[in-house]
Amino acid sequence: MTTHHRIALIPGDGIGREVTPAARRVLDAVGARHGIRFAYQEFDYSCARYRELGAMMPADGLDRLREHDAIFLGAVGEPGVPDHVSLWGLLIPIRRGFRQYVNLRPIKVLEGVPSPVRGAEPGAVDLVVVRENVEGEYSEIGGRLHRGCPEELAVQEAVFTRAGVTRVLEHAFRLAATRRGRLTSATKSNGIVHTLPFWDELVAETAPKHPGVTWDQEHIDALCAKLVLDPGRFDVIVGSNLFGDILSDLAAAVAGGIGLAPSANLNPERDFPSMFEPVHGSAPDIAGRGIANPIGAIWTAALLLDHLGHPEAAATVESALAELLAGTGIRTPDLGGTATTEEFTTALLEFLP
Ligand code: NAI
Ligand code: MG
Repeated sequence: MTTHHRIALIPGDGIGREVTPAARRVLDAVGARHGIRFAYQEFDYSCARYRELGAMMPADGLDRLREHDAIFLGAVGEPGVPDHVSLWGLLIPIRRGFRQYVNLRPIKVLEGVPSPVRGAEPGAVDLVVVRENVEGEYSEIGGRLHRGCPEELAVQEAVFTRAGVTRVLEHAFRLAATRRGRLTSATKSNGIVHTLPFWDELVAETAPKHPGVTWDQEHIDALCAKLVLDPGRFDVIVGSNLFGDILSDLAAAVAGGIGLAPSANLNPERDFPSMFEPVHGSAPDIAGRGIANPIGAIWTAALLLDHLGHPEAAATVESALAELLAGTGIRTPDLGGTATTEEFTTALLEFLP
């Protein structure tokens, strides 16, 4: 039996346009082996579109995406277009409009990609950062006053709701229960006296519903240090929007580089499509040369497969990546090799069972 999925592709800008075709080749190859057919529709939502037409996406942009089973996004961002335009004009409307309140960022140290962190051995570091993705510190509430005057001020409100925090905590505890059963909550309830004590209370309320999971909490500053000194001790780390954002780049660096890291913006209820994107940006410094590392995008394709109900197919992508890296010296230049994006992807296809 063949399963059909409709995928919205948003290649975006810079190397987003180079790694998206790589992910698509892998999806098609895996699909052919597992009886999964993908129908793609490509969208030009990007900074290039913003320069031409004045908006990252059309006014009905979300409606057009909505009829798809999943969205794959390469990366957006272009020198000359302010980053807040690309973020608030595209990524944040999709994440919020489609209630993608879980941002999932798995991190593994793989054999053949040395970690810059001493003692972070392959196999020993395998963690997932679960970031709250629609509220918290990234709110539109606030403003500027007395612009240009000596008394100029800026106020930005952080918004933590019982419903919003609890649902992401529930997701993180459930995920931990399917893994090694350990959860760490990122907090800063010593310094931030309203929102983060509230967060801590909700963690303590949620935990008893998941008796199979042992949990602890760490202040974000100490947690950053421990993630570098002893990354192997973590299983699932859950944090607010800002803490999760910072932790996931740090954890990606521990795993050997931003070019490898995948992410998923999930609407767990499946009322809306979820969005899958590598963690990296559009990398204008190397864009157009065909040398971007496609691992982050390809691993992201595995997350997409898993979400659409094909965990075995997803696992073959992950093991093909692991085998290629452990067994060959084929690498893109960011990992010290000479392979192009296309050569790396072609080599990877050979490792698919
Ligand atoms: P970046 O991730 O684009 O690049 C940081 C560094 O890592 C660069 O030296 C780049 O060459 C390298 N790099 C990143 N991905 C790579 C890959 N796959 N292969 C090889 N090298 C890779 O972050 P940066 O420079 O801070 O931002 C560039 C633009 O991307 C900005 O406009 C920013 O707003 C945007 N951005 C977009 C994101 C998204 O679409 N979700 C996420 C992060 C940044
Ligand atoms: Mg980030």
